[in-house]
Amino acid sequence: MLRARGGWQALRRSASLPGARPAVRLRVREALKAPEPADAVQVQGWVRSVRSQKEVLFLHINDGSSLENLQVVADPNLEKRDLTFGSAVEVQGKLVKSPHKMQNVELKAETIRVVGPCDTWSFPLKMKERHPLEYVRQFPHLRCRTNTLGSLLRIRSEATAAIHSFFQDNGYVHIHTPIITSNDCEGAGELFQIETSNEARESAEKTHFFNVPAFLTVSGQLHLEVMSGAFTHVFTFGPTFRAENSQSRRHLAEFYMVEAELSFTESLQDIMQVMEDLFKTATSTVLSKCPCDVELFHKYIAPAQKDRLEQMLKNKFVTISYSEAVEILRQASQTFTFKPEWGCDLQTEHEKYLVKHCGEVPVFVINYPYDLKPFYMRDNEDGPQHTVAAVDLLVPGIGELCGGSLREERLPFLESRLQRLGLADAYQWYLDLRKFGSVPHGGFGMGFERYLQYILGVDNIKDVIPFPRFSHSCLL
Ligand code: 4AD
Ligand code: MG
Repeated sequence: MLRARGGWQALRRSASLPGARPAVRLRVREALKAPEPADAVQVQGWVRSVRSQKEVLFLHINDGSSLENLQVVADPNLEKRDLTFGSAVEVQGKLVKSPHKMQNVELKAETIRVVGPCDTWSFPLKMKERHPLEYVRQFPHLRCRTNTLGSLLRIRSEATAAIHSFFQDNGYVHIHTPIITSNDCEGAGELFQIETSNEARESAEKTHFFNVPAFLTVSGQLHLEVMSGAFTHVFTFGPTFRAENSQSRRHLAEFYMVEAELSFTESLQDIMQVMEDLFKTATSTVLSKCPCDVELFHKYIAPAQKDRLEQMLKNKFVTISYSEAVEILRQASQTFTFKPEWGCDLQTEHEKYLVKHCGEVPVFVINYPYDLKPFYMRDNEDGPQHTVAAVDLLVPGIGELCGGSLREERLPFLESRLQRLGLADAYQWYLDLRKFGSVPHGGFGMGFERYLQYILGVDNIKDVIPFPRFSHSCLL
């Protein structure tokens, strides 16, 4: 029989119903893994299926702790009118070995309490139906109750933990970089400006709330660079905002970015090694921590993705220079909407072609044109095709997953570039960093949602976030 043991956290959550024996409250995941039968167990969750037979009533209960449901078997007398698909229930009974091959244990119900009924008529999810992602996207407030989104959200949670662990295990210090800032790190003007609300606007019109214009952050990089003047390894992982077309399949207005900064680094290869290690370590951890959840995606959403990931984990990523990339594109038999030319940005169609050309594996593209990239990137001092030490990681199906560079640590170079851009005053503090113990350094940022899209094979970025914005007129 199940006894109080250190590992059974659940035993501390013992629950009692009026007039009933005290019961051990278990999560579905814990119940499914129970090493032995147990007499008085309570499980809470939502009904995923109800099947009433003459002699027995079957329920499947899910509480978000696993993809697998717990089967409840009960006397048909326990059936009530409001015990329906979608209702919230509390079941108490005996956890027994299941006679069915498909599951290890089942809960023999003694009492079933409907905590919250569900109007199945108007509930947009239907029992045993496989709802397409496009359909459930219309119900951002309800779609977490589907198997696919349940799995996605557990994977997202594990991937977040895996990324933090990767950095912590490698001696990086986690920094909370600001969400509200005055800098436009990328210089692309894709900023959301912060204003005070209507009542206070009148006074705000005269002066900005912070005395200077303030924006939602587009990247924590510059703040990480501040920290990299005292810590050799830092990272941040937080919300990031870009006022760009969020209707595409790989762009969001609000997304999460993982960023790292390494001091005393003179080589782009060192940055690329961290990108590759992060990518492979986090992916292996996710695959081993939530195999069933990942399998759901690899079985029903992107059947070829499992093999691709396995290949990716085994092989070294490919590296080509931007100039080589442009040459490959110019020689391609395919006609592109945007003609590939040295000095122009690589478009998604170009990125996808390059990845295909290299064998559908992740590809680092390094050394981009000086004029294409933001002010902070390190001048390679080459010519006549002038480049900076920048790197983008392109992955199959997505295109750009990470962007990084060596940073310009030399004061005269940085000063003259900022002056030419008319930014020298605004970035005095950034120039200061090059006056007081400046060291060669570099880093990168990885889009977390694009990472999830890639490992799971999800086509639309809106399907890997907890709350999709369906339209600009209705924000949940
Ligand atoms: O290439 P980006 O713009 O790089 C930076 O912001 C650097 N300051 C990072 C650094 O070096 N610390 O953005 C990094 C990554 C992109 O490669 C992409 O994966 C993701 O962030 N990203 C977006 N993801 C979803 N929606 C958007 N609108 C995104 N914009 C960028
Ligand atoms: Mg980029």
